[in-house]
Amino acid sequence: MSKTTKGAESGEAAEVMQRQERRRITLTLNGRERSGYCEPRELLSDFLRHELGATGTHVGCEHGVCGACTVRVDGVAARSCLMLAVQAEDRAIDTVEGLARPRG
Ligand code: FES
Repeated sequence: MSKTTKGAESGEAAEVMQRQERRRITLTLNGRERSGYCEPRELLSDFLRHELGATGTHVGCEHGVCGACTVRVDGVAARSCLMLAVQAEDRAIDTVEGLARPRG
């Protein structure tokens, strides 16, 4: 087996392993049921931004200090940089987008 083929196979294996680790979770985001895939150790803030497109949730310190990532989880304020996405399964998450009033 050539070095290139072996490298490609190990890359494919890594990709397959990564895909298998991803887990589908469902939650209620700003009143709408949403689903997406996340890594087991993915932060809720990253999941909201990158998987669900809720970019109003910002990431600053990633240490629970600045509050830029604050969301409501079942009505209680929480730092999404200190919570794993998998912990949000079947929970109600409200982001800043959910606070906006419809135009009219
Ligand atoms: S990013 Fe600063 S508290 Fe979460």
